[in-house]
Amino acid sequence: MNKFLINRPFPRFSLIFKNLSFFENPRKNLMFFKNGREAFVYGLQCSGITKNSIILAPAFICNSFTEFIISSGYQIRYVDIKEDMTLDLAKIEKIFKADDIKALIFVYYFGLSFRINSLLKICKKYNVTLIEDCCHGFQTKINSQLVGTFGDFAIYSFRKVLPCSDGGALRLNNMKQSKYIYSYNFSLKDDLFYLIIRIVELLARNILLINIYSKKFILIKTYIRDIFTRNKLKNNQELIFPKKRCSFLLNIFLNNKKYLSESMATRNKNFNYLLQETKLIGLKPFIKQIESNISPQFFIIEDLHGGLHEWLKANGIGAMQWPGQEFPKEILALPMLYINANKLNKNLVMIPIHQDVEINSYKELIALLRKWAKKNNN
Ligand SMILES: Cc1ncc(COP(=O)(O)O)c(C=O)c1O
Repeated sequence: MNKFLINRPFPRFSLIFKNLSFFENPRKNLMFFKNGREAFVYGLQCSGITKNSIILAPAFICNSFTEFIISSGYQIRYVDIKEDMTLDLAKIEKIFKADDIKALIFVYYFGLSFRINSLLKICKKYNVTLIEDCCHGFQTKINSQLVGTFGDFAIYSFRKVLPCSDGGALRLNNMKQSKYIYSYNFSLKDDLFYLIIRIVELLARNILLINIYSKKFILIKTYIRDIFTRNKLKNNQELIFPKKRCSFLLNIFLNNKKYLSESMATRNKNFNYLLQETKLIGLKPFIKQIESNISPQFFIIEDLHGGLHEWLKANGIGAMQWPGQEFPKEILALPMLYINANKLNKNLVMIPIHQDVEINSYKELIALLRKWAKKNNN
């Protein structure tokens, strides 16, 4: 079993020990939260968008996010995306004309770059708040401008690309931050818990040689997680406050410029390597090329046959589908209305390319993919 193809980066102890000091958050332009969804709801409040307002969201989205928005008192209206994950501007404008939409979520899927300028103009025209969702990647640039700096506000979820347990953040582009009340809650408990879980995961995988992506293991993991979360009442009417400081681990990795630029370069290099290899094998990469100012979250294969991601997981590879289990039920139930969201949810398979994956770790994956293509392409 391949020891390295896990689906998220591991906290580098060398960096943790080098940075055993607390400092004020140098990212003055960000407010921190437990997760991206809290940052989103707080951003709505800062923008003066009142409860019950309608938020327009792309149908290709996860329900942990949309359900939180709804349980926080807002309404969601969905719009299907195009096959290439972009928004249909004519469709958006038609919806703006017909309905009282107060805000639009613009997702940079998998850290990729999507043109936003024309959409910005439409949102301005109809007085709709444009929210950039940078939860899948925050280092990508459009030309030379960072994602998250175009719209009215942007949200982040750093735990999806950095080794930490929290990482919700909000960037207000058109508002002042100083007047907001901050919570000073700060605890190392979550960092320690996260580190323990990651070490256990590593030991299970590399010493006990357990396949942590097998159906059996995931079932046990979900069962244990449910026990811990069972007693936590879901009450999203609670007031949300930004934190003055982000977690210790996030602080270390987010503020290390060298780590960040190396991470981006590795993601890019791994992406291009897999692009070349999958084409040779005869598989279908979903994105055919990326520029060096992109920080992709995953390499994506279009699996028209079906079953590739389950097969890779059964073989110990940290592949995944998105939103997968978290695809909103109302979108799944209307495949003719949300054709592309349903298609992308079913067909795309994400392969890890994060900062801890070295190219020579892909040997086993490439052999598996070759076997898969041979079995299914003829
Ligand atoms: C595109 C997108 N936006 C926002 C979120 C919410 O982020 P978080 O899980 O940190 O609340 C998620 C994940 O759930 C997501 O995939």
